[in-house]
Amino acid sequence: MTAAALTPMDIGHARYVALIDPGTAFWVLVDKTRVSDTLAGGPLLDAYREKAGDFSRELHALRFELQPAAVDVNPTERCNLDCTYCYLPGKMRRDGSHMPEDKLLAALDKLRRYFATVMPEGRRPRIIFHGSEPLLNRHAVFAAIEAFGDDFVFGLQTSGTLLNRSAIDFLTAREVSVGLSLDGPEAAITDSTRRTWSGRSVHERVLAAMDNLRGYDAWSVITTCTTENLTHLTRMAELFHAREVPTCMLNTVRCTLPGARGVKPADPDMARAFIAILAPSARRLMCDISPCGGGRAFFALAADGDLYPYSEFIGLPRLRHPPLLRLLRGAGALRLPPDRRRYRRRLPVGQLGRWNGHGFQLCAPLTGTAWMRPSHNGKETS
Ligand SMILES: C[S@@+](CC[C@H](N)C(=O)[O-])C[C@H]1O[C@@H](n2cnc3c(N)ncnc32)[C@H](O)[C@@H]1O
Ligand code: SF4
Repeated sequence: MTAAALTPMDIGHARYVALIDPGTAFWVLVDKTRVSDTLAGGPLLDAYREKAGDFSRELHALRFELQPAAVDVNPTERCNLDCTYCYLPGKMRRDGSHMPEDKLLAALDKLRRYFATVMPEGRRPRIIFHGSEPLLNRHAVFAAIEAFGDDFVFGLQTSGTLLNRSAIDFLTAREVSVGLSLDGPEAAITDSTRRTWSGRSVHERVLAAMDNLRGYDAWSVITTCTTENLTHLTRMAELFHAREVPTCMLNTVRCTLPGARGVKPADPDMARAFIAILAPSARRLMCDISPCGGGRAFFALAADGDLYPYSEFIGLPRLRHPPLLRLLRGAGALRLPPDRRRYRRRLPVGQLGRWNGHGFQLCAPLTGTAWMRPSHNGKETS
């Protein structure tokens, strides 16, 4: 790795340019007046030279050495909400089917046998019940968690609207990690993107679920960032602090389906908002799985038994893969293509902070991890 690999890139900022190395995914912001001096040599370049080999090896491992270790399992096509931007087709969410319990148990059994051939000794693969709304098929999901508790580490991503006390007791007793979704610090903001089919607010129900989860260490909240909440992200972070959310994810809205376009912020607005809440020099603002791990580090099982690289592609027939049974019979590797346009990034939550209009101010660190995903517009619609 040579120093020449650092290349200036204009990011449209009045004061800073980025110095980037695509080969290691390293980037740093430098004052425009100091670019030549920085590239000529000095502490930054020395430190980068020392670390570049490690960065390169780390990225190589992320790009080429991953084995699937997680599956998004969609136990139903249905959802009780109709969020403006949802990447799953409305017809499927309204009229779709549940995966029958016996099919879900059979699928998990096949996955268990498949993972036994590829996972290192002593590591359990991760199953995340995702969707649409997995708790609409609660009976099947809970039966699967009971039956395969020794084989998988389980997680459940839910709107939170059906997460009542008994569901929380069941899940926390089995150490299932629970992800909720909330888009605003107040009902009016959440309601502008997330609501029931009849237009009713879900904000208070999600806050109630958050109250019930307080003190549990394996829960998280996703905020999908749109035109409606982009200027309220600091208040969102404050709400996370106040409610002791261990992990949060700021998720950029992606235009998978046309509904998302109406709430998609302009890229410069999104960039400004994210740079405001992230430490500008954070090395961890790099792709955690680059290129995207969809179909490589993880894949998705749809409620009808088809496989996709990731849940977001369910409903896009061109990205469907052979049925589970056929695929898992093929020993060894899954032949799902990586989608090089999609990235997932990870950064310590301690770097969440406040933009005070002049500069970046760190909030008190949370424990845990935040995830962000930049938008990508190059996706086909169906
Ligand atoms: C598809 S939902 C499935 C689980 C559950 N129904 C929920 O809402 O959490 C999972 C997450 O994806 C997010 N999401 C849905 N469509 C999206 C899109 N077009 N772009 C970015 N995130 C999206 C939602 O906000 C939610 O946090
Ligand atoms: S984001 Fe989740 S809750 Fe909203 S419509 Fe999509 S699946 Fe349903």
